[in-house]
Amino acid sequence: MSKEKIILTGDRPTGKLHVGHYVGSLKRRVELQNSGNFDKIFIMIADAQALTDNADNPEKVRQNIIEVALDYLSCGLDPAKSNLFIQSQIPELCELSFYYMNLVTVSRLQRNPTVKSEIQMRNFETSIPVGFFTYPISQAADITAFKATTVPVGEDQLPMLEQTKEIVRKFNSVYGETLIEPDILLPDNKACLRLPGTDGKAKMSKSLGNCIYLSDTEKDVKTKIMSMYTDPNHIRVEDPGQIEGNCVFTYLDAFSKPEHFAEYLPEYGNLQELKDHYTRGGLGDVKVKKFLNNVMQEELAPIRARRAEYEKDIPEIYNILKKGTEVARQKAAETLSEVKSAMKINYFDDAELIKAQAEKYGNN
Ligand code: TRP
Repeated sequence: MSKEKIILTGDRPTGKLHVGHYVGSLKRRVELQNSGNFDKIFIMIADAQALTDNADNPEKVRQNIIEVALDYLSCGLDPAKSNLFIQSQIPELCELSFYYMNLVTVSRLQRNPTVKSEIQMRNFETSIPVGFFTYPISQAADITAFKATTVPVGEDQLPMLEQTKEIVRKFNSVYGETLIEPDILLPDNKACLRLPGTDGKAKMSKSLGNCIYLSDTEKDVKTKIMSMYTDPNHIRVEDPGQIEGNCVFTYLDAFSKPEHFAEYLPEYGNLQELKDHYTRGGLGDVKVKKFLNNVMQEELAPIRARRAEYEKDIPEIYNILKKGTEVARQKAAETLSEVKSAMKINYFDDAELIKAQAEKYGNN
């Protein structure tokens, strides 16, 4: 049986998307979209999931839906090829979650490493909202509702995918083959797995103010790059410098291509030569930062230009989301109907059940 190749992925709308999202996932999505290898592509703005830890701040989520949509479109996601949609507008996802909840234990949820670290980060230890605690189940509903075969996400989502697979296996073994086990698709460039913040901290986060946003102006990007964290012991140009933990080089690992050297830094053949020179000493941070700025501006300029176009007609963006949501809802409804018949909770469509019950009571 040849099965359709379907992508489902998404982001929580809690802020604008940054270059970490871009190299970690968005860029790949656009490539996958344009590869023509997929039958259907669903890209979800996960507002309901965002509410699981922002219940007291729905306005933040509401405001950021358009930001994320603009970021998607400006990166090159094309509504003619990819369905962009809003999670909360698909009630079928809640229904699926409700049935999947019976297939997962509390202790299994407690072992989910991403949930564990998020609970710590948010100081939820003593008062975890139930909705937050169970979001891996709702994420399994997101993925399975669309019969996704491929889920391109960052590394932090690996535990969610594992949990989804377990739910799929459990469901299929209890109720019969119905759901599809998805494969995770991680970035293949190691630097892209988790791009550090511009201050060298392991994670980019809005509250740390260490992000380069896709919607930043050319000037903002330059300022942020020129003040990036490098090697604190590399004080004079002649000092030997360290590459490891040096953000500028991590970003170059993620963004630079051999062609960039010929264009902007012809004294070096490739990134390794640049790194070698830095390690030996005699190469200043400013020169490397200027190069990084050229490389990143080249990548970000077309994104910024597309964003400016899309920003001219915001109602049209909501329209795109509405249409995408309609298509997505249809697919989710189909799956839910299959799930309910597999579970035999489709009573009114079950002529055999009605007949058997009637016979039991001696009807004829
Ligand atoms: N958890 C993802 C994030 O934090 C968002 C998300 C929700 C998602 N449902 C999903 C990603 C399904 C992939 C598949 O960004």
